[in-house]
Amino acid sequence: MTIRLTWRRIGIAVAALILGGLLFAWSGLFYIGATGGHWGVTNWFLHWVMQNSVRTYALQVEAPPDLGDPALLARGAGHYATGCAPCHGAPGEKQNPVVAHSLPAPPDFSERLDDWSPQQFFQIVQHGVRYSGMPAWPKPERRDEVWSLVALLEALPSLSPGEYRRLAHGEEAARSAPGGSAALGGLSDPAGPVLADCARCHNRDGLGRDGDAFPIIAGQSEAYLLDTLRAFADGRRHSGIMQPPAARAGDEALRAVAAHYAAQPRAPAPAPADPELLAQGERIAREGIPAQQVPACLSCHGDDALRRNPSWPRLDGQHAGYLRRQLEAWQAGARGGGSRHILMQTVADRLTPDQVGAVSAWFAARGVR
Ligand code: HEC
Ligand code: HEC
Ligand code: HEC
Repeated sequence: MTIRLTWRRIGIAVAALILGGLLFAWSGLFYIGATGGHWGVTNWFLHWVMQNSVRTYALQVEAPPDLGDPALLARGAGHYATGCAPCHGAPGEKQNPVVAHSLPAPPDFSERLDDWSPQQFFQIVQHGVRYSGMPAWPKPERRDEVWSLVALLEALPSLSPGEYRRLAHGEEAARSAPGGSAALGGLSDPAGPVLADCARCHNRDGLGRDGDAFPIIAGQSEAYLLDTLRAFADGRRHSGIMQPPAARAGDEALRAVAAHYAAQPRAPAPAPADPELLAQGERIAREGIPAQQVPACLSCHGDDALRRNPSWPRLDGQHAGYLRRQLEAWQAGARGGGSRHILMQTVADRLTPDQVGAVSAWFAARGVR
């Protein structure tokens, strides 16, 4: 017997298949539990699809910045310790045993890390992996932060457990047990564990570590610190690195750590800079740029202005690289900020790259006032 293929018959067959599939899904017989694992072939197929997709979409990712920059590596490691290591482990630290029972289980990088190119790592960390629990970066506009994790992933296989702990926990590495999150900050002080978390990156003295990896927050205005920490916590200031520590601290502890850091002496080490650049920066800071409708920076960031309005930040003695990155982030629409940041958005938008470099260098070189 022969069955003639007609469009009508093909249509009926397809409809029957779809209906059968829906009936099977409705019956509840398909097992979605994570116990038992995938068949070998399913595992292979899913990973093959993921690898192909990453390879294709990574073609549109820009060339990486200098991934050997120690500051980039330190920022990436600081985040990795709390944002990635619980799922993926780290040199000398196994992954949390709970996640080994998810399907697919996150690969344990303390054992093995596949060889992806920097752009492919970027694609995975920026966008996550669908159907697997690998999260996307919470602030996609902060591509610089994603690159800091790529720098860490590139270095990870060659880091010793000791090097990793220093990079991830800073001075707190010496205070806490390996594998635990830093948490030994004075049992009588409710902000103790929170301060220990902040200190992994900013140190307890607020001066940071690893060059200009982290902004100097010692001696910053307390009102600005609290305003900006709340903005990180609820996502109005965009940072996938700062949002988690600010959000998990809770408001009471944020008040306490803002007061702590505001009370620390500011003792930055100004980097040498070209005198001509400094002169250009000083003119912008003192006089503004009338032709571009840029007001004098010191009208808001000078000593008198800060006495009038302590919720604005002081910039003197801050790392030039940090100041420059903030101005560039506003220009790219990636900064956000506290309750008054729109004022600053308007100013930043009017500066050229040269002017950003000059004025950042001048505030950094201004020393402590
Ligand atoms: C909730 C657990 C979880 C967290 C947190 C997590 N991941 Fe993943 N990650 C996964 C899972 C699951 C996979 C496997 C995806 C697959 O193979 O389809 C994965 C895959 C990866 C891969 C590809 C590994 C390979 O060779 O197949 C990289 C790289 C990666 N993650 C990096 C990171 C980084 C960096 C972070 C922190 C910013 C992070 N992950 C946070 C669960 C997680
Ligand atoms: C994993 C490292 C890390 C941890 C932990 C961390 N920070 Fe930060 N912090 C950063 C980075 C990186 C930036 C720069 C963010 C940016 O580029 O927008 C930053 C920025 C800040 C700023 C903004 C400085 C300014 O001049 O506007 C403040 C304030 C701050 N952190 C305070 C804290 C406090 C308080 C804690 C603890 C609750 C904390 N940080 C925990 C890395 C960290
Ligand atoms: C009208 C007042 C005003 C003027 C003028 C002004 N700023 Fe600001 N600036 C602010 C405010 C308010 C903030 C805090 C934004 C926030 O909430 O994050 C800020 C923040 C900044 C920051 C980020 C500091 C940090 O720690 O993250 C930089 C950098 C900065 N300003 C540079 C400048 C420069 C350079 C000029 C001059 C070209 C300038 N500002 C002029 C009001 C001003």
